[in-house]
Amino acid sequence: MGRLDGGQAVAIASGMAASAAVPGLMAPGRTLVLSEDCPQSVTGLAAVAAGKGQLNLERLATEDTEGWIRASRTVGMLWLESPSNPLLKVADLKAILAAPTGRDTLRVVDHTLATALNVRPLMLGADVAVQSATKFVGGHSDLLMGVVATRSSSLLAALKEARMLAGATPGALETFLALRGVRTLHLRLERAQDNARTLAARLAGDGRVRRVHYPGLASHPSHSHAVAQMAGPGAVLAFETHGTADDADATCRRLKLIRHATSLGGVESTLERRAAIPGQEHLPPTLLRLSVGIEHVEDLWHDLNQALGS
Ligand SMILES: Cc1ncc(COP(=O)(O)O)c(C=O)c1O
Repeated sequence: MGRLDGGQAVAIASGMAASAAVPGLMAPGRTLVLSEDCPQSVTGLAAVAAGKGQLNLERLATEDTEGWIRASRTVGMLWLESPSNPLLKVADLKAILAAPTGRDTLRVVDHTLATALNVRPLMLGADVAVQSATKFVGGHSDLLMGVVATRSSSLLAALKEARMLAGATPGALETFLALRGVRTLHLRLERAQDNARTLAARLAGDGRVRRVHYPGLASHPSHSHAVAQMAGPGAVLAFETHGTADDADATCRRLKLIRHATSLGGVESTLERRAAIPGQEHLPPTLLRLSVGIEHVEDLWHDLNQALGS
């Protein structure tokens, strides 16, 4: 896993446990700048630490490249997720990670949705790359694991200590499943990404769909960053339908092949209305996140087509 990221990696018991090990790499009381568009779990972690006075929390929009570059000079830690979940915003990592930093500023990138095959944050200049291996690395929705990679031996030692003290060492079965997943990651991702490209294009041209969020589409605001820094746009997309949240829920209920479920990155496609999740009410009400699997693309389209109704 470390070699895929271009550094050395520590496997931790879940993506959340991996995320929890990261803020402690920064000196107490310093500022953590977190992207506005990142998992609620990570936001919660940072907010609780801020509430206890362990750090000062600031938020920045993923697309505010100048803001990230300015913050690099002064704050303790930048934390970006790219592409973001669920709006698939791609940060201008090339520009942000090439910017001069303060002496102790650490730049952290969560690349769970891209995987190391599509973006390698350490090679672009990040100090820490974090990912939930629960998703694409495991690939079969039967694994919980996180991975943190770095090129710094002192950060690696601190991460190993944090893992030990939290008791967050993954089990033997989990590490076996992750290794087995890595062996087919390139094949699964290639197929899932091809499917995602096709579905995104069809959804974008479909009158029942209001908007498609997918960095592989030229119309997506982050398309140019994706082309510049990613080997491929990935296999997760989101789309908004016309009508109400109830109509979008009805679409979810009509699915027959695609599973109506939260997790992503598995061989089977999953779809969820994200604003239905407590704490995610700020998202567009009909936004449906689709994690595209490796099924036959025409079977997936047939299911989406019938679920969207007339
Ligand atoms: C981008 C991202 N990072 C981290 C996590 C947490 O991962 P885990 O489910 O392995 O705890 C998630 C979970 O949804 C995620 O989407």
